[in-house]
Amino acid sequence: MRFQAENGGKILGLLLFFLLSSVSCDKEQNSIIPYVPVSISLNLNIYNELSVPGNSIFLPGPGFAGIIVYCEMPGSYTAYDAACTYEISPTCRVVNDGVQGTCSCCGSQFILMGGGYPTKGPAAKPLQQYHTSVVNGSLRIYN
Ligand code: FES
Repeated sequence: MRFQAENGGKILGLLLFFLLSSVSCDKEQNSIIPYVPVSISLNLNIYNELSVPGNSIFLPGPGFAGIIVYCEMPGSYTAYDAACTYEISPTCRVVNDGVQGTCSCCGSQFILMGGGYPTKGPAAKPLQQYHTSVVNGSLRIYN
């Protein structure tokens, strides 16, 4: 009985591992925004508007169409490529305003909290997300 329980636990663990790794890979593989290498670091003492939950900033330059950084709460950030996921052009950029982003071309709206999902179309896919980590008062954004 103990042997079956141990193996059952191991099998469940393995299944969970494969499921999680396939989900996380999907996010990157399924991105429709052209891949551009990103590795930047922001000094959070300089970008102090990112200390307010609900605030967002736009960084022109990195990524495909620039990067939007959203502050969920101090120490917790999400970063997205500003390219709209409908026409996928560096000129159709999502303009951030707090927690919301609006496409400058056809007006699709995205919510920057919880994954950058569209709340109003025509866009149907979420914004391309980048990895973030906070190290010694700096926010690192990378892919
Ligand atoms: S390009 Fe963004 S909604 Fe049309």
